[in-house]
Amino acid sequence: MENEIQKNAKMSEKLEPWINYLQSAKFRTSVHWLIYIFVPLTLFILLVVLQQHNLAGQLGEWAWQILILILFIKPIVKIIARKELMWLLTYRRELGILCFYLAFSHLATIIFLLKGYQITNYFGLKNFMLYGAIAGIIFIFLYLTSNNLAMRILKKNWKRLQSLSYLLLPLISAHQILLAQETEDALGLIALNIAFIILKILEYKKITLKFKTQTNE
Ligand code: HEM
Repeated sequence: MENEIQKNAKMSEKLEPWINYLQSAKFRTSVHWLIYIFVPLTLFILLVVLQQHNLAGQLGEWAWQILILILFIKPIVKIIARKELMWLLTYRRELGILCFYLAFSHLATIIFLLKGYQITNYFGLKNFMLYGAIAGIIFIFLYLTSNNLAMRILKKNWKRLQSLSYLLLPLISAHQILLAQETEDALGLIALNIAFIILKILEYKKITLKFKTQTNE
């Protein structure tokens, strides 16, 4: 047991300079340049200037992967409960903005290409476009309220509003299940949704994996 404690303490010590760097103002500024300037500029050049519209599906896929990361990070970090991982939570807003840019580029390109602005394209509960559109509206709403000003104005309601992001998981899952119409994909996506619910319950009940360190012993 002593060995395990010492090993954990040594690992924390080794990781500390890295964690400090990842949380530093310098690193955060680089991330902001990348996400707030470089990414939208690149997307604009690719989609508007170079007209690479065939990227639309891939952009949706990337947005989906980042969304999974954002939603799963919090419960996983809280359950693992290691202070070395807590910094990950501080980058969720930046990841949210990145996810929005990708999702917005995906839906805007498709709407533009498929003349998706015709409302009849979204009719029917078995229509994958309907779920994409609802998710798209939620994305826009979350993006518009993801700043400090909205946080100050909305106060307690801000958190409630942000929990709309949980709906994105089942909505985009439905979007993909109805699009692909494949049992294997559907089962994988249903399992993902169930896994998320289980993790949120564990997080809510404050169930954590206990790692022995000299400080929490
Ligand atoms: C009005 C809103 C939306 C519309 C009209 C729409 C439309 C589409 C269409 C037509 C496809 C098929 C593309 C292809 O096969 O290349 C697709 C795929 C997809 N969409 Fe959306 N979408 C919308 C919103 C969203 C949002 C908000 C997300 C967020 C993540 C999303 C994620 C995806 C994913 C992951 C795929 C599968 C991509 C693939 O398998 O390559 N969509 N969408």
